[in-house]
Amino acid sequence: MAFDLASWLPGAQQRVERLLATRMDTLSLRTPAALAEAMSYSLLDGGKRLRPVLVLAFADALGGGGVVAEDGACALECIHTYSLIHDDLPAMDDDDLRRGRPTNHKVYGEAMAILAGDALLTEAFWFVAMGSTAELPARARMTAELAMAAGAGGMVGGQVLDIAADRPAAQEYLMQLHRLKTGALIKASCRLGVLAAGGSAEALDAAERYGEALGLAFQIADDVLDVTSTAEQLGKPVKADEAAGRHTFPAVVGLEASRRLAHELVERAKQAVKVVEPTPGPLAALADYSVERTK
Ligand code: IPE
Ligand code: IPE
Ligand code: MG
Ligand code: MG
Ligand code: MG
Repeated sequence: MAFDLASWLPGAQQRVERLLATRMDTLSLRTPAALAEAMSYSLLDGGKRLRPVLVLAFADALGGGGVVAEDGACALECIHTYSLIHDDLPAMDDDDLRRGRPTNHKVYGEAMAILAGDALLTEAFWFVAMGSTAELPARARMTAELAMAAGAGGMVGGQVLDIAADRPAAQEYLMQLHRLKTGALIKASCRLGVLAAGGSAEALDAAERYGEALGLAFQIADDVLDVTSTAEQLGKPVKADEAAGRHTFPAVVGLEASRRLAHELVERAKQAVKVVEPTPGPLAALADYSVERTK
C-alpha cells in the first residue's frame, strides 16, 4: 500500500511539539520570564515543523538518531523561528501576521522580538552541542553544519540578497537567494538527521541532493502561495512580497513556469532519496508535500 502522508504527518508534528515544549520548559528555568514568554509565543505556536520533521525522518530512515537527532530537530526549529521573528520586523518585511497570530514584535515590541530571536538562535547551539562524551563527535559536526547553514553564507546571507537594493530580477539570482535564505536550513535539516544516525557518506550525499532540490522547491512554492492563497489559509499576509518590493519566482518567470520548476525539483529530490529510502515513504512524500501544500 502506498505511503499515506496525511495519516503520518500529524503524529510526526506532535512529536516535535512535545520535544520543543520539554526543551522550552528547561530553558525557562534560567530565562527571565518576559523573554521566555516571547520565545515561547513564537516557538510553541504551531507551524508546519517541516525542518525538524525532516531531521527525524532522515534519522529514522537510517535506524534512528535518539536524543542527538531530537536535539538537532529542536535546534533547527529554534533557528527557523528566530529567522521568522526577524523576517517580520519593520526593518525587514514589516508583517503583522504569522502562523495565524500577530507577529512577535506586534505583541512584545521590537526590542523584545529582536532579543527573543537572538536567544532562540543562541540556545539552538546549546541544544545541539550539549550531550554525552560518546555523542560529541556527531554533535560537533552537526554544530558546525548548522552554523554554516544559518550564518553569513547561508540563511542570513540569503536574507541580505533578498533585500539588496541593486538585486537583479533574474532567475539565476533568485535561485541563489532562495538556495541560501531557505534552502540552506532545509538542506542542513536533512544532513543533520543523517549525521545524528551515524549514516554513511552515501546517505549524507543523498541528503545533500534531496535537501538542495527540496529547499529550492519549498521557497518557490512559498512565493507562489504568496500570490495564489489567502491570509486565512496561510496564516500570514498574502501579496506581501510585492508590498515589500521583493523579487519572486512568479514575478520573474511567471506562475506556470514556477510551478513546473518546483515539480521538476521535487522529482529530482525523490530520485536522490532512494538511496536512503528505497521504498517511497515519509521522505518521498515530504518532497511532494513541500510544493503541494496549501499553507
Ligand atoms: C516560512 O517557512 C518561511 C520560509 C522560509 C519560506 P515555513 O513555511 O516553513 O513556515 P512555518 O514554520 O510552517 O510557519
Ligand atoms: C523568509 O522568506 C525566509 C527566511 C529566512 C525567514 P519570506 O520573507 O518569503 O518568508 P515569509 O513568506 O515571510 O514566511
Ligand atoms: Mg522575507
Ligand atoms: Mg517575510
Ligand atoms: Mg514568502
